[in-house]
Amino acid sequence: MKLLVTGGAGFIGSAYVRNHLANNPGDRVVVLDKLTYAGNLTNLAPADHSRLQFVEGDIADPAAVAAAIETCDGIINFAAESHVDRSIENPGEFIKTDVFGTFVLLEAARDAGLRYLQISTDEVYGSIEQGSFTETSPLDPSSPYSASKAGGDLLVSAFHHTYGVEALIVRASNNYGPYQFPEKLIPLCILNALAGDRIPVYGDGLQVRNWLYVDDFAAAIDVVFRAGEPGQVYNVGGPDECANIEVVRRILEGCGRDAGLIDYVSDRLGHDVRYSLSAARTESLGWSAEVRFDEGIERTVAWYRDNEAWWGPTRSGEYREYYERQYGRTLG
Ligand code: NAD
Ligand code: DAU
Repeated sequence: MKLLVTGGAGFIGSAYVRNHLANNPGDRVVVLDKLTYAGNLTNLAPADHSRLQFVEGDIADPAAVAAAIETCDGIINFAAESHVDRSIENPGEFIKTDVFGTFVLLEAARDAGLRYLQISTDEVYGSIEQGSFTETSPLDPSSPYSASKAGGDLLVSAFHHTYGVEALIVRASNNYGPYQFPEKLIPLCILNALAGDRIPVYGDGLQVRNWLYVDDFAAAIDVVFRAGEPGQVYNVGGPDECANIEVVRRILEGCGRDAGLIDYVSDRLGHDVRYSLSAARTESLGWSAEVRFDEGIERTVAWYRDNEAWWGPTRSGEYREYYERQYGRTLG
């Protein structure tokens, strides 16, 4: 099988490509990626390049998609603008990529008769104070990011319902692990802690996220792509939930720093308090998470400590400018 993986130079897409090629020696992958600030070809360096083709291009460009898709047997769409804070600052790109780009890919899947998997998020359900969302929970997105992802998901369902496209959706909880861009909470905290920079905690830090190790999500994607039913949604929730302030405390401990680095800052606008997903439907296909948060966070801290060659360039340039705009302070 030859898969088109869009957004495959990002955090989760690259983990998927590395794992998929390693576990499926007969398969090939074409990555189509625009290489935005979040895309990084180094993320794909450990993958088997004899079975990997990289194409730089935009999923919102039908010609780029048509060229990349030739000879592929299926599409997995990771490409998105993915950071909530950037969507609050500048929502336009989110609509273009996450909604219109998804539409372009669905048109291509329809024309070529290809199976299509949309990588989506628990954020489309909004916030839940108690219990867990299931696949039948109503969509109630709160941020421009989650609204753009919900828009993409609705198009996927419509293309299945109207045109019979063999399309499925996976919705995951917060991923963490190696190669994650340091705008997100966990890598931002680790790198700030290692450097001795202050760690910005939004509001009271009591918001809760449901943490999923990225390789576990990569495994779930393969299971759903192969065994999932077209037209269905599959939630992939992580095995553990944790309040942000507790995540920060564990990272500080892992980096040999104390709580003096914590900096309580203004809350995120419209901040969702808690996410939680039931993974029962995905588990019924034979998947389960293998990495608990205690182990995953240790592995992640160790990876960043050992891979300055990756994060050194990443934590400079555009990121420093973004950081100053977002937090009103410079990185050390
Ligand atoms: P990321 O920001 O690390 O990577 C996104 C990738 O998409 C980058 O390589 C970027 O260059 C590429 N891209 C962006 N716009 C593009 C365009 N118009 N055309 C082609 N490529 C484009 O994101 P991530 O964290 O790896 O997330 C991947 C997917 O998983 C996204 O769809 C996201 O919504 C979803 N998701 C993420 C999480 C999480 O915790 N990170 C959880 C659930 C779902
Ligand atoms: O739930 C899945 C989603 O998880 C994905 O769809 C998104 O692509 C991904 O970015 C992530 O969204 P979050 O907003 O939950 O992740 P983030 O790492 O930005 O923030 C996690 C929590 O930490 C959130 O409550 C906000 C808080 N936070 C974040 C940053 C960057 C802080 O307190 N300080 C920070 O500096």
